Amino acid sequence: MSKQDKIKQLIDLRAEAKLGGGEKKIESQHKKGKMTARERIEILLDEGSFEEFDMFVTHRCTNFGMDKKKVLGDGVVTGAGTIDGRVVYVYAQDFTVFGGSLSEPFANKICKVMDMAMKVGAPIIGINDSGGARIQEGVTSLAGYAEIFQRNIMASGVIPQISAIFGPCAGGAVYSPALTDFIMMTEDTSYMFVTGPKVVKTVTGEDITTEDLGGANIHASKSGVSHFLLEDEEEGLLLIRKLISYLPQNNLEEPPVLECNDPIDRLDDALNEIIPENPNQPYDIKDIIYSMVDYNEFLEVHRNYAKNIVVGFAKFDGMSVGIVANQPNFLAGVLDIDASRKAARFVRFCDAFNIPILTLVDVPGFLPGSSQEYGGIITHGAKLMFAYGEATVPKVTITLRKSYGGAHDVMSSKQLRGDINYAWPSAEIAVMGAQGAVEVLYGRELAKIEDPEERAKFVAEKEAEYKEKFANPYQAASMGYIDDVIEPRNSRFRIIRALEMLQTKKDTNPPKKHSNIPL
Ligand code: HXC
Repeated sequence: MSKQDKIKQLIDLRAEAKLGGGEKKIESQHKKGKMTARERIEILLDEGSFEEFDMFVTHRCTNFGMDKKKVLGDGVVTGAGTIDGRVVYVYAQDFTVFGGSLSEPFANKICKVMDMAMKVGAPIIGINDSGGARIQEGVTSLAGYAEIFQRNIMASGVIPQISAIFGPCAGGAVYSPALTDFIMMTEDTSYMFVTGPKVVKTVTGEDITTEDLGGANIHASKSGVSHFLLEDEEEGLLLIRKLISYLPQNNLEEPPVLECNDPIDRLDDALNEIIPENPNQPYDIKDIIYSMVDYNEFLEVHRNYAKNIVVGFAKFDGMSVGIVANQPNFLAGVLDIDASRKAARFVRFCDAFNIPILTLVDVPGFLPGSSQEYGGIITHGAKLMFAYGEATVPKVTITLRKSYGGAHDVMSSKQLRGDINYAWPSAEIAVMGAQGAVEVLYGRELAKIEDPEERAKFVAEKEAEYKEKFANPYQAASMGYIDDVIEPRNSRFRIIRALEMLQTKKDTNPPKKHSNIPL
């Protein structure tokens, strides 16, 4: 073969590989409203930055006539590229080739980029669109999954791992995304479940659709498996780019600091008025978050799940911050099982990747009741406490209104190594609310008062007395549990100063193999 022929051969082979499962399959993929693996990578990465590996890999299976069916690349596109100039590693399963099903060489390709990402210290992004284990291969594909799982586990807390689910993801295959830091799913075109509707029907008799069992809406709102609900793939790919802009490359680096032209001392007078007079009246915590952060930009994580707590990323003077905030607009911002789990995982992510945590507190307590107790609120609430207490990143806390009881301790209190704890003048830091306190403290007296009017008068007097004493931040401030009481409209400035002050903070935990967080 002449030199020119060899070059031509290379060009032809590349073209063949790029076609994946062929025109027909690509057309069918597009008809389903889905992109091909390469189209997805193109949108995800900076233009022209993708370096592909293992384009010529094929499977080695001979069962069921598979030796006659070989496709270059074998159904997964892998490589590296950049997002805003920063290196990321990526793999995208190609449904046009054997339904994106996983063979042994397919798994090896994924493992190769995972290993490289770990060596280099760069995020790994996985785009999932697959029929699961390649049925013709048998047990080797199961081993392939396990190889990936083990790498997901080793990479956890070392490099950011992001999973996009843009098609089927079923059976044991769901556990690779589940081991990563963030999962996003597209509405209508993606699903995740351990067993599909047919098996569910056979085993339990339950009749359920694919969408209701494991669709994007279900996992974004009910199970909490998915962190982001997407209208389409493009939204997801751009969201990954945005998410990456808040994250460091790995656990030994700091998150990127962006140039910020939003004035650090921007005052917002509306914040001085935002807390309602009536302590039982809700307000939207997100109005406060948007007001404080750079350019009013907040990337909310788990927006549709456990809405009584809000978590997400923002920048303050260009610095990345993870925000955890009780949401009075939903269930009065109470802490329940789902909210505790959601916030605990987020706090641990931030701590693992050197992202300071801002906590905004307005919490009436833990949700009472048998369903919460039977569901293990004790264990789940402990997760959040554990996450805060274990975290060594800078922790800035502002108490806006209620901060009662155990929930007060949990929400990044001073004693859980909160670094800077501020309060607004509207803060009420106490063992419990006035109503509950009066019922406990004056139960015997109340039992003796029969006249309802007299009783109401007595309760009102005692509640007023209790509020006067405890419904304020000053008892906590007098003990040094609150570092300062601040004017709400100046919060942005005070947060930025606190973050600057804490930039070189060093804190450690005792040497141990690992902690035993109440899982
Ligand atoms: C081999 C597969 C495959 C698989 C799909 N294909 N899944 N080939 N192994 N697991 C092939 C199909 O034969 C078909 O090939 C092509 O991919 C496209 O599939 P269609 O069925 O035509 O597509 P669609 O109608 O969109 O349905 C997609 C699907 C369905 C719902 C994913 O293909 C399906 O149910 N597949 C099997 C899913 C499954 O049971 N997987 C094993 C799960 S267990 P042709 O040549 O006809 O185009 C598992 C264990 C992991 O994954 C354990 C980890 C520990």
